[in-house]
Amino acid sequence: MSPRHLLVGAVLLASSMAWNTDVHNQIGFMAETFFLPETSSVLAKILEPQYNGSVGRAAAWADAYAHTDEGRFSYQWHWIDTHDHAPEHCYLDYAHDCAKGGCVVSAIANQTGILHECISGVKSGSWSGGTNLTCSYALKWVAHFLGDIHQPLHANGRAVGGNTYKVTFGNVSTQLHAVWDGYIPYFAANVSKPFSNQSIDPFFTGLVSRIRKNQFYEAPYMWLACSDPSKPEECATRWAKESNRWDCDYVYSRVRNGSDLGTDGYATGAVPIVELQISKAAFRLGTWLNKLVEGNRYSREAQDILEL
Ligand SMILES: *[C@@H]1O[C@H](CO)[C@@H](O)[C@H](O)[C@H]1NC(C)=O
Ligand SMILES: *[C@@H]1O[C@H](CO)[C@@H](O)[C@H](O)[C@H]1NC(C)=O
Ligand SMILES: *[C@@H]1O[C@H](CO)[C@@H](O)[C@H](O)[C@H]1NC(C)=O
Ligand SMILES: *[C@@H]1O[C@H](CO)[C@@H](O)[C@H](O)[C@H]1NC(C)=O
Ligand SMILES: *[C@@H]1O[C@H](CO)[C@@H](O)[C@H](O)[C@H]1NC(C)=O
Ligand SMILES: *[C@@H]1O[C@H](CO)[C@@H](O)[C@H](O)[C@H]1NC(C)=O
Ligand SMILES: *[C@@H]1O[C@H](CO)[C@@H](O)[C@H](O)[C@H]1NC(C)=O
Repeated sequence: MSPRHLLVGAVLLASSMAWNTDVHNQIGFMAETFFLPETSSVLAKILEPQYNGSVGRAAAWADAYAHTDEGRFSYQWHWIDTHDHAPEHCYLDYAHDCAKGGCVVSAIANQTGILHECISGVKSGSWSGGTNLTCSYALKWVAHFLGDIHQPLHANGRAVGGNTYKVTFGNVSTQLHAVWDGYIPYFAANVSKPFSNQSIDPFFTGLVSRIRKNQFYEAPYMWLACSDPSKPEECATRWAKESNRWDCDYVYSRVRNGSDLGTDGYATGAVPIVELQISKAAFRLGTWLNKLVEGNRYSREAQDILEL
């Protein structure tokens, strides 16, 4: 480990590290609304009983696990640190930026491959009931990392993913990473307490409905242009590049020092970005898991899902 990696670990440990856990749960609940019946039943056999078959309930596990001694190795899998210079220049180079030991792109690739084998195992009746932890973990990581990779500050190396970039939000001193993890989603939903970790919240039901009704300035079927889980590195790299792009187009170009991001227009302007990124994460996750379960039989067209 280079000193840089040690620094990243130390600073992040002391602060936040991903979409807030409840936002991860909600992305999972949104994804569940796109599952085919067979996807739900196969994945329910992979998860340990405490999740009652719900990918949404399981989608936050990876953050807690990364903070245990046993799971420490997976800590850096939650992001990819670019070596670009936001906001002037944004660029993500998977081969160069993915740290030794893994990053969010390689982790999605690795765990998707493991999950693919797990699904075959469950389908052939080798096991069920969440008894294979390699498989349960693979599903929980995939559900979590497809969320993380859509958070713009999980695809940028500046200021340790924004963790050391101090800002004020609604009179509270915080840092830019936390603003994107939680403050802006709560602002977008106009709530003052966390979302449920048991069931989908109305704000996220609203996003699902907007996906189905094609109510984004970018058509949701285009989000699936790369959604083939047999090419996980290629797709995850593309998704990470989209996130990284926002760091130049908004996250660092609009932030102003000495101003309150909650009231100076920054949060309001960030709402459509957060809604888009969360919606992409959920629609891609649902599709990714459907394709893993259905394999070559997957033939669902966008029209079946979207009210086009
Ligand atoms: C568990 O899932 C089943 C089927 O989806 C549902 O009927 C039941 O209410 C759930 N139980 C809990 C405790 O959430
Ligand atoms: C792939 O996943 C396995 C099981 O979780 C882990 O032991 C291994 O280190 C991972 N490899 C990479 C390159 O991420
Ligand atoms: C768990 O599933 C993996 C992937 O299919 C397989 O390699 C492994 O042998 C299984 N472990 C057990 C204990 O069944
Ligand atoms: C704003 O603050 C950040 C972090 O505190 C610092 O890196 C940056 O240089 C400052 N920008 C300006 C324009 O002062
Ligand atoms: C911030 O503090 C000021 C002064 O105490 C107060 O007037 C304002 O309502 C507060 N704003 C928020 C968003 O809490
Ligand atoms: C936000 O919620 C508060 C009550 O919690 C309500 O008074 C206000 O009208 C809401 N704002 C919007 C824009 O919906
Ligand atoms: C779910 O949320 C409740 C209430 O906020 C909390 O007590 C509980 O620990 C959460 N469960 C998990 C698994 O995070």
